Amino acid sequence: MRPPIDSGTVLITGASSGIGRELARQLARRARTLVLVARREERLEVLRDELLEHNPTLGVMVERCDLSHPDEVDSLLDSLHRHLVRVDVLVNSAGLGDYSLYEQESWARIHQMVQVNVTAPLLLTHRLLRRMVERKRGGILNISSGGARTFVPGLAVYAATKHFLDGFTESLRLELMGTGVVVTQVAPGPVDTEFSEVAGTQERVGKAPAWMRISAAQCAREALEGFDRAQPLVHPGMAYRWMMRLSALMPRGVLRAEGLPAARQLRYGTSLLEPAHPDTGQRVLLAGGPEGA
Ligand SMILES: NC(=O)c1ccc[n+]([C@@H]2O[C@H](COP(=O)([O-])OP(=O)(O)OC[C@H]3O[C@@H](n4cnc5c(N)ncnc54)[C@H](OP(=O)(O)O)[C@@H]3O)[C@@H](O)[C@H]2O)c1
Repeated sequence: MRPPIDSGTVLITGASSGIGRELARQLARRARTLVLVARREERLEVLRDELLEHNPTLGVMVERCDLSHPDEVDSLLDSLHRHLVRVDVLVNSAGLGDYSLYEQESWARIHQMVQVNVTAPLLLTHRLLRRMVERKRGGILNISSGGARTFVPGLAVYAATKHFLDGFTESLRLELMGTGVVVTQVAPGPVDTEFSEVAGTQERVGKAPAWMRISAAQCAREALEGFDRAQPLVHPGMAYRWMMRLSALMPRGVLRAEGLPAARQLRYGTSLLEPAHPDTGQRVLLAGGPEGA
């Protein structure tokens, strides 16, 4: 069973940048209509012109929407209804992270991440899925993250939103078995997009090594290949795919231990701690940072 991309209507969130924009470019060769959603309308208009230049028979709708506001998501859905647009495939690509210790994070930013990464995909899926089930054809492509399967100090809220999307997508997929609706989760590792700039990871922890990074075009291509095969989970990029396969075999304790150096670095500025004191059980930093941490 394949998702109804060919000659269908595909709604893509996060189409103004990165993976969402590349998905739009690759889907434009196959779909009848694309609905491009993001806040930066001018970018969506530039993309629309580019797509129409290469695919003159394609229909493209540009929908400016701040997905962190559920009422704007409702307005987007009303607009589709008014224009008699029936969505065959929903691609939830919009998302953001923010690198910070949790207690230092502003509540506004936490709320924004939860709204965009969790509430918006839930709401869009809830509003669009019933018609897909009734028509016995449809597709949901959720872009989560490798962070959905590990623990990521400095990105606790982001990782939690992706853990949520992982559980939701896998469970929804089971619910939809035999209905004609294809559900696929894409969990990339580092992809060269604006994500790390927005999240502040580029500035604070630097870029991931080149062998691990892939381009947004490769990520989109492998995502769509997996979606076409109705794969439950896609890890784009050979190196990252193998890392995630190995990581899936690791006991939880090993995943915790893997995150420790980064957590210490973030809080104390050093990843090295002395062994626990035999009497007090306290550990102190080898260099710098507060004692008794
Ligand atoms: N790049 C990576 O290394 C990586 C790794 C794993 C997973 N991912 C996931 O991949 C997905 C796409 O990210 P990307 O790498 O393509 O990052 P990106 O280049 O920063 O693109 C993020 C997209 O999300 C949209 N967005 C953010 N906040 C929004 C809001 N409030 N309302 C509407 N749209 C909003 C942005 O559009 P506007 O700013 O125009 O609104 C933009 O189009 C995300 O879900 C991310 O978590 C990325």
